[in-house]
Amino acid sequence: MSKIISGFSKRTKEEKINWLATHYFANQPEIIAIIKQYWNSDDALQQLHDDFIENTISNFYLPYGVAPNFIINNKAYVIPMVIEESSVVAAASLVAKFWSTRGGFKAEVISTTKIGQVHFIYKGDENELTQYFNSKKELLKLATASITKNMEKRGGGILDIELIDKTEKLAHYYQLHITFETVDSMGANFINSCLEAIAKEFRNNEIEIVMSILSNYVPECLVRAEVSCTIEELDGDAPQKFAEKFYQAVQIASIEPYRAVTHNKGIMNGIDAVVLATGNDFRAVEAGVHAYASRSGHYTSLTHCDISNGVFRFWIEVPLALGTVGGLTSLHPLAKLSLEMLQQPSARELMMIVATAGLAQNFGALRALTTLGIQHGHMKMHLMNILHQLGANDAEKKEIARYFEQQTVTHSAVVAKFNELRNNN
Ligand code: MEV
Repeated sequence: MSKIISGFSKRTKEEKINWLATHYFANQPEIIAIIKQYWNSDDALQQLHDDFIENTISNFYLPYGVAPNFIINNKAYVIPMVIEESSVVAAASLVAKFWSTRGGFKAEVISTTKIGQVHFIYKGDENELTQYFNSKKELLKLATASITKNMEKRGGGILDIELIDKTEKLAHYYQLHITFETVDSMGANFINSCLEAIAKEFRNNEIEIVMSILSNYVPECLVRAEVSCTIEELDGDAPQKFAEKFYQAVQIASIEPYRAVTHNKGIMNGIDAVVLATGNDFRAVEAGVHAYASRSGHYTSLTHCDISNGVFRFWIEVPLALGTVGGLTSLHPLAKLSLEMLQQPSARELMMIVATAGLAQNFGALRALTTLGIQHGHMKMHLMNILHQLGANDAEKKEIARYFEQQTVTHSAVVAKFNELRNNN
C-alpha cells in the first residue's frame, strides 16, 4: 500500500482523513474519532479555521489564559496569553500584582522602522550601477504608488531606498535595502508587494533579481519596558541580598550564552503567548528577537539590571514587528477578542504590552531561580497535570494538593500518594 499520494489537497476533508487513517494509523475508527472530536460544532467557524491553511483536518487547542493586574504607563490591562506551559500565566499574574503596587511598568517605543530587501546580482561597472540607481530612485517609489496609497493615508509608506554593495562578502551581490513604516499593520504583505514592484521596475539586462523579501530582523522596530523601585520595596526579609543575586543572574545571562538562551527562552514564554493570543506571527518575532540578542556577535541577555543609589532597575529592549489590523488579527475571533480585551491598542501600544509580558516573565523566573528554585512553583503547577493524567477526581485533587503544600512534588511521590489514597478508600 503506497504511502505517497498525488492530488491530496484536492480531496475532500473526509477523504483526506480516511486516507491518512488507513495509511498511517493502526486503529482507524479511534483516530478518526479523535480528529473529529476537535471539530467545531459551528460549521461556519470551522470553515473559517479550515481556510487558514491547506489540508486542515482538525483544530489543535492550546489554553487561552489571562493575566490581570498589569499596569503599563499608568493604564490597567488584563493580558491574554496562549500557552501550554503550566506556570507562565501564574507567574505573569503574580509579577503584575507585585509591580502594580510599585509604580507599574513603564514602556516606550524607540522606533518602528521595518526592512525589506531586493537581492540581486550585477557583474558590470559599479559606478554605472550607482548612476542607474540614482536615476531610477524616484521611479522605484512611483512603481509602488497603487500599493502605498492607502498606507500613506494612514501615515505609513516607504521611508527610503538605498543601494548596498555586498560584493566583498559575495561576488557580484548587491541589494536594494528599503525601509518602511507600516503603522498599525504588521505589514508583511504590504512590504513584499512593494518589493516585488520595485524589483520589476529596477531589473534590466544586467541586473538579475535573485529574490525580494522583507526581513524579520527589525533592530529599528524597538521597544523598551522597565520596572524600578527602591531596594527596601523589594520582597522578603533580605531585599538587598535579593537585589544583588537578581543582578548577578542578569549579569550571568549577559556573558554566558548557555544561560542567556534559557534566560531569553523564559522571556519568550511571555512574549510568544501574547503574540499568539493577538494573532501575530510568533515565528517572525522569535527569529528577529534572537538575531537581536546576537547583534554584538555574542548571544546575550535581552534584559538588563542596575542597582545604584538604593534603586533597583530592571528593563528589556526588544525588537517587535507587530500588527493590530489586518491578517489574522481581523480574522480569528479570539485574536479580535484579545485586542478588545487590550482596549484596541495601536501596534505601538501592543509592542509595549508584549515587551512588558516578556519582562514580567523574566522577573518571575529570576525571582524563583534565585530564591526557592524553579521546581518549587513548576512542580506545584505540574502536580495538577499529573493528577489529571492519573484520573484523580476533584476530592482527590484537593486532598493531594493539600498534602503537597508541605512536600516536594515529584512524579513518583504524586503517584505513590494517589495510590495510597485510592487503596485506603
Ligand atoms: C522555562 O520555560 C523558563 C525558565 O527556564 C527561564 C529561565 O531559566 O530564566 C524558567
